[in-house]
Amino acid sequence: MSTYPKGFIPDLQKLRSWRSLRGSLWRSPALVRLTYGELARLVKGAIGPKPCEVLYVGTGLGHVALELTRAGHDVRGVDIDRESVALARRAAATDPFRRQRGSLSYEVAGFPDGIGDAGPYDRVLFSRALHHIDDPEAAVSTAAELLVPGGRVVCVEFAHDRLGPAGARWMAGCRIRLARSGWWPGGVATSPDEETDRVARKWRTDHEDGGLNRLGAMVDPLKAVFRLRRLAWHPYLFWEPAVTDREQLVRFRLTSSVLEVSPSPGRWRRYRAHVRVLIG
Ligand SMILES: C[S@@+](CC[C@H](N)C(=O)[O-])C[C@H]1O[C@@H](n2cnc3c(N)ncnc32)[C@H](O)[C@@H]1O
Repeated sequence: MSTYPKGFIPDLQKLRSWRSLRGSLWRSPALVRLTYGELARLVKGAIGPKPCEVLYVGTGLGHVALELTRAGHDVRGVDIDRESVALARRAAATDPFRRQRGSLSYEVAGFPDGIGDAGPYDRVLFSRALHHIDDPEAAVSTAAELLVPGGRVVCVEFAHDRLGPAGARWMAGCRIRLARSGWWPGGVATSPDEETDRVARKWRTDHEDGGLNRLGAMVDPLKAVFRLRRLAWHPYLFWEPAVTDREQLVRFRLTSSVLEVSPSPGRWRRYRAHVRVLIG
């Protein structure tokens, strides 16, 4: 049974409150703007301004795909989840800009095995999907085969294993402050140190035991096949609320500036990978 209410449309240009979606960002337009709105902006920037043929792996509810087509790109979206594809199709069909935007199609398919004959594409986009894919190496090499010469992979990822002591302490501090004002539903430890330990332990159980790929399992295959142009770090997924003061904002922005990796021999002349990694 669907967890989404009747009439729910995941469209960043038509946001409204959905009180029944309690555990989801879609409950509040402000939360969606701060998270998926920023994600869409980040992805659009990484894809580039020139209209492109984009294969988007793991489109989810399609809100980022819709924004890409509104920016003039043609998008083929594939996602393994039937309900997500149905909702994404619904948003595409009711899009007030559907006559002006680029083409948009969705299919239920698992990447890379279910992709069939396709392409070539100017861009293959993984937005928060590669950490879910069982064989990221196969996914990356299939992406390379699907690109035109000079094409790019754009990868925005969740690097769960990058949560370090500073990140855990920051999360613990937020929880403690929220708990004091009655906004944190769970309990918190009595001291910041204890809460930091608790956060780190729970994080590891939730993400490592959950079978999600670690950063190296995604970046290493990308670096083996592509020339890595840029590796940028962002706080996942809450760009603005994650950055509670200006000093931190500057630190995050600086950290995210550039990290160029030397070209690997062989195929790098044909392809460029553009990787953005989001840390917890
Ligand atoms: C965290 S969601 C990301 C949704 C969207 N791209 C975004 O960034 O908001 C991950 C999506 O990847 C899809 N997915 C996971 N494994 C997949 C696979 N092997 N092939 C295609 N889609 C997959 C899931 O069904 C889910 O919709």
